[in-house]
Amino acid sequence: MKILVYGSTFLTARTCQLLLTEGYNLVGYIPNTRPPAVPGKMPLPEVSPDTKHDLKLSIQYNQKIIEIKNAFNVHTGLLPEWGGSDILYHTIKKKAKEQGLTFHKMGSDYDFGPIICRTSYPVFPDDKIEDLYERLALLCPLFTLGSLKILNKIGFKKADLCFKKKPTLYLRGKIDLNELELYRKTKDILLKKFKEKTKRGIRLADGSILIRPVNQDDLESLRQLRNHPETRRFLTYNKVISKKQQHAWFARLPQNTSCQYLTIEKEDQFAGVIRLDEQDQANRSIRIGADIALKHRRQGIATRAYQLMLDYLFIKKRINRVWLLVADFNQPAINLYKKLGFKREGIQYQSLWRDKKWHHYLMMSILRKDYAKE
Ligand SMILES: CC(C)(COP(=O)(O)OP(=O)(O)OC[C@H]1O[C@@H](n2cnc3c(N)ncnc32)[C@H](O)[C@@H]1OP(=O)(O)O)[C@@H](O)C(=O)NCCC(=O)NCCS
Repeated sequence: MKILVYGSTFLTARTCQLLLTEGYNLVGYIPNTRPPAVPGKMPLPEVSPDTKHDLKLSIQYNQKIIEIKNAFNVHTGLLPEWGGSDILYHTIKKKAKEQGLTFHKMGSDYDFGPIICRTSYPVFPDDKIEDLYERLALLCPLFTLGSLKILNKIGFKKADLCFKKKPTLYLRGKIDLNELELYRKTKDILLKKFKEKTKRGIRLADGSILIRPVNQDDLESLRQLRNHPETRRFLTYNKVISKKQQHAWFARLPQNTSCQYLTIEKEDQFAGVIRLDEQDQANRSIRIGADIALKHRRQGIATRAYQLMLDYLFIKKRINRVWLLVADFNQPAINLYKKLGFKREGIQYQSLWRDKKWHHYLMMSILRKDYAKE
């Protein structure tokens, strides 16, 4: 089923991230028409409303959707009691004891349509907007996933039979300038909170380069490096990658715990990528690979990046064998690996079909005992 997403807030982005990892076919998103208070980095391409789809999914979208056939909304309040805008603000103001999320089919009136699912979270007397927003952000992705699964089970027809009631509408415009300032602060606090929670993984630096986990801001540089003919010709899978495929790959990364992608930064610029995979913990062996951005090549960056990684793997992680595969016609890379102390272990014959002929992969490795001697 093709899903077209409406919205571009932090909640929309987090929810799409989960749906992509769960294999949902999100064809793209329509951004909010005004910059949202808490914006998100959408893991999907921006598309036009006439993009082919079976279902519209709106999450904190700020405009009325005109064509509402098979359109569903994730409303950030419990319906029908809490319709309209700025629900979190009104929740605190009215000293409510609970708030929640509602997944409903869209009708021609605002927040009024058959309710498929609702879920709630507690509200305490000392809560601030950011506390409620944090609860929302934790709940929304899984709630939306569950709601879509239920919708899939009951089907569009039965969705029309679900309970509906005219909602109480809370209106925007009652918020004064101080409160708007509060929203802005909320945004900063939240973005920091969630960033801190996701900040983990390897960080290595030698005063000249920094190695850290790949993040969303790297995706386009990474894609361009990956798609450049001077990189692609050496890769096993050498088809051009689209923006959509790149985003979907990134969204799936957290699930792939056996493979790590690290960005090499030089003077705050993307300079390349390192991949660690085939981790064999029982035998303390791992595979490594790296590609350097074109404008950064032949400046010693790969040499420094490998030295940092080998120090880290052999000394800190107590790995015993680091290995790699390199195409037999990739002379620059073979020279680099020899210079670093890698030795040829064997040949994978005719393992690469490129330019209408077979090529071999050379298998090379460096052992802990030999690295220590260097
Ligand atoms: C191979 C690659 C990683 C080298 O990165 P780099 O940062 O340019 O390498 P360095 O500047 O650290 O060079 C280190 C050594 O590699 C070898 N080397 C690098 N580029 C070379 C080239 N164009 N021709 C011949 N040797 C080359 C040299 O031995 C060099 O040492 P030297 O400068 O003392 O001669 C980079 O060219 C690249 O990303 N290539 C495309 C993707 C790729 O092949 N990835 C590896 C797949 S196995």
